[in-house]
Formats: sequence, C-alpha cells, structure tokens
Amino acid sequence: MLTKRPRGTNDFLPEDTGKWQYVEALLRELCHEFGYEEIRTPIFEETELFLRGVGDTTDIVQKEMYTFEDAGGRSVTLRPENTASAVRAYVENKLAARPQPTKLYYIGPMFRYERPQAGRFRQFHQFGVECFGAASPAADAEIIALAWEFYQRLGLKGLELNINSVGCPECRPAYRQALQDFLRPNLDKLCDSCRERFEKNPLRILDCKNPECQRYLAGAPTTLDALCDDCRKHFAAVCRYLDAINIPYKINTRLVRGLDYYTNTAFEILLDDIGAQSAVCGGGRYNRLVEELGGKPTPGVGFALGMERVFNALAAQQIELPAERGVDVFVAALDNGAAAEAFRLATELRRRGIAAAQDVMGRSLKAQFKYADKFAAAYTLIVGGEELSRGTVQLRDMAAGEQREIPLAEAVAYLAAKFA
Ligand code: HAM
Repeated sequence: MLTKRPRGTNDFLPEDTGKWQYVEALLRELCHEFGYEEIRTPIFEETELFLRGVGDTTDIVQKEMYTFEDAGGRSVTLRPENTASAVRAYVENKLAARPQPTKLYYIGPMFRYERPQAGRFRQFHQFGVECFGAASPAADAEIIALAWEFYQRLGLKGLELNINSVGCPECRPAYRQALQDFLRPNLDKLCDSCRERFEKNPLRILDCKNPECQRYLAGAPTTLDALCDDCRKHFAAVCRYLDAINIPYKINTRLVRGLDYYTNTAFEILLDDIGAQSAVCGGGRYNRLVEELGGKPTPGVGFALGMERVFNALAAQQIELPAERGVDVFVAALDNGAAAEAFRLATELRRRGIAAAQDVMGRSLKAQFKYADKFAAAYTLIVGGEELSRGTVQLRDMAAGEQREIPLAEAVAYLAAKFA
C-alpha cells in the first residue's frame, strides 16, 4: 500500500518533532555536562559486525535483524543497536590513541524485526552513551548517573533502577555450570526457548518471563553468589558510588540482559506506567567486546534508552514539555500591491535573525490574520496602503491588542532589539 507506512514504524508530525527536539536538546546538554561527545556511525554495517558483536545466540541476531545483500553482493544489516558500531568506529578510527577514556554518545534510529506492540517498534530510536578505556566502577556509576539525571530533569516519577553483575570470563563458566546443574532435573519442563538456551546461553533462562520457567528457577544460584574477587569488589564499588549520589537501586539477581557482550555490571531502568515494555533504559559493562571485534583489550561501559518510551512515559504521567516558541512576527500584506514589499520586509527581518512568517497563498487580509493565529506571533506588521507611500507600517502587539503606525526602519529596529 502506497499510503501506509511499514508495520512497526512511525511518522513523527510537527506536533511530535517539537517535543523530540526539546528532549534531544536536553540529552545533548546533559552529555556536555558529563563530557560525552557525539559520534554518528552508518545506519547499516557489514552483517558480520553484529553477528560477532551482539552475539549469535541472541534474539536480535537469530530473529530480528534486517539483513540483505546489496547490489555488490555484500551482506549488510540495518543496525539493531549502536554499541557494536561504536566499538568498530573506536577501533577503525584509532580513538584509543587519544586521551582516554573516550566518551561518546549517539541518537538515532535502530531496526529490529520484532512483533510490534505498545512501546515496541521495528524502527525505533535510541539515545546511548559508550565509555571506552575506563575499567573503574566510577565509569559505570557515571553513566548510570547520566541516565538517572535525564529522567529526573524530565520530571518522571516511579523509576526503578535494577542492577546486577553477570561476572567475567573468569567466574562465569563455573556459574554457568552451577545453573545448568540446578536446572537439569527440570529441563524438560522449561519452555521451548529456555530448553534451547540451556546449552548455548543458560544465563538468559534467568530472565525468562514464562511463569513455569520462573517456578523452576526458585532457589537457583545467582551470578552474585559466584562472582570472583575482582568482580565482587567492582560490583560493591558501583553500588557505593550510587549510594554516594543518592541514586536508589534494586539488586536484581535475575537481570542478565539480552545481548551477549556484557561482563560485570548489567542494569536496566524500569517504569511500570508504560505497560509490558517497561524497560526505558538498559546497559552495562562489556570488557571483552573491543578485543572480540579486533581491537586491543579495552574496557567499555554504556547504555541505551528508548526515545519512544520516553514520550510514552511523559504521556502516561501527563507531563507537558515547555511550549514551543511561536514566530516573532507575522508580516501581512494589505493587498496584492503590497505583497512584494511584505515579502521583502519578511526577508529583511529573517536576515536579522527574527523569525518572520508570511502568507504565500495570496490570501485576503482577513484570511491572513486567521492564518497568522497558527504561528502565535508576538507582533504583526501590516504593510500597504497609504502607510506604504509614507514609508511606515502598522505594528500590532498581539498580546496587548494595540496597534500603531511607525516608520518602517523603526519597526525593524524595534523588533531586532526585541528578538534578534
Ligand atoms: P537494549 O536493552 O537492547 O540495549 O535496548 C536499550 C533500550 O532501547 C531498551 O531499554 C528500550 O528502551 C529501547 N528499545 C529496544 N528495543 C526496542 C524496540 N523494538 N522498540 C522500542 N524501543 C526499544 C542495547 O541496545 C544496548 N546497545 C545498550 C548498551 C549500550 N549497552 C552498552 N552500551
């Protein structure tokens, strides 16, 4: 259908994009405050990057990627997330040679072939940050603080930060074994996907939503029980940093996240108000990923948050964002004879940095006034008639409802002083 957008995608209309711009500006401001700089990577990458980066046992790689062959016969994939691309860019552009850590952020569309539902789309948008080169738990706490601060500044309430440690390649094999040993007697009672996960990625069974599986998980060993000394210290320190800045958190030993690259810290921020897709933000540490994608061993930590879910949350909590600014001036032409002068004047105003709207439909003066309402202009300039021959215009202050005749140059200077 030519007039129907693809399933799971959205059109954002001007009444939406104003809000997006406000939220994006807030995120950019926060990144500036926290010392994160923007990176923009391609929307598509070679498929291999995500197979290796995201992990071939994940739902994303197994079921959700938009993969196709381009005209040159290469397999490419629309990015399902931006961490793998950020790592690729970090290695390819030798960012490790710059003073470390490298602190990057991104905002943009991601693509996953998921079953669309409230808060879950096939093209969705993420804001995310990635910090490369810092192994310290302070880096984990810093990115969590950034995410938390964002939601606070929007005024959202009822957020729950869940945090866990999924260990490292030293301590995870023993935990994996312990979990498999615990589940094995009931293996045939687990759901199909958990039975599949049992060999390849048993940790994912921990966050299966199926109530039956949850029942057989009762009393299962946790990753926290199995952490090695270094991982235990790291996790305790992250919690201490969060305590120090009064960010409340819940240690959730079932939190493992759906991507393969995590080591140590894994976290999510949840908000019940927005329905089943309650994760507004997710992230964690990935100390092996840079190396796995061909770089030198480099620690990394990051998160991404779903932009659409921010707007769902704002709507659910009836939070209004500050109104958009209207234009400064509407320039109306009294009649057709004054159209060219009105056009010239509107252009002059814009050249001076004043937002000036005008009619481009040849409307009558009355219809122009009606049209002007749409712009919520603070002033209207009426050009034409005898005023034109006197070198003056009518300047109308819309809020006060007052109108006066004023020399053209004075009107421009007055408006420039006010708005430019
Ligand atoms: P993720 O948990 O897959 O992590 O996605 C992060 C956030 O993106 C989710 O919490 C959710 O808000 C949003 N999101 C994910 N899928 C959808 C969807 N289909 N529709 C709408 N929103 C969605 C990552 O992507 C990791 N790259 C995060 C990360 C960065 N970890 C370390 N660095």
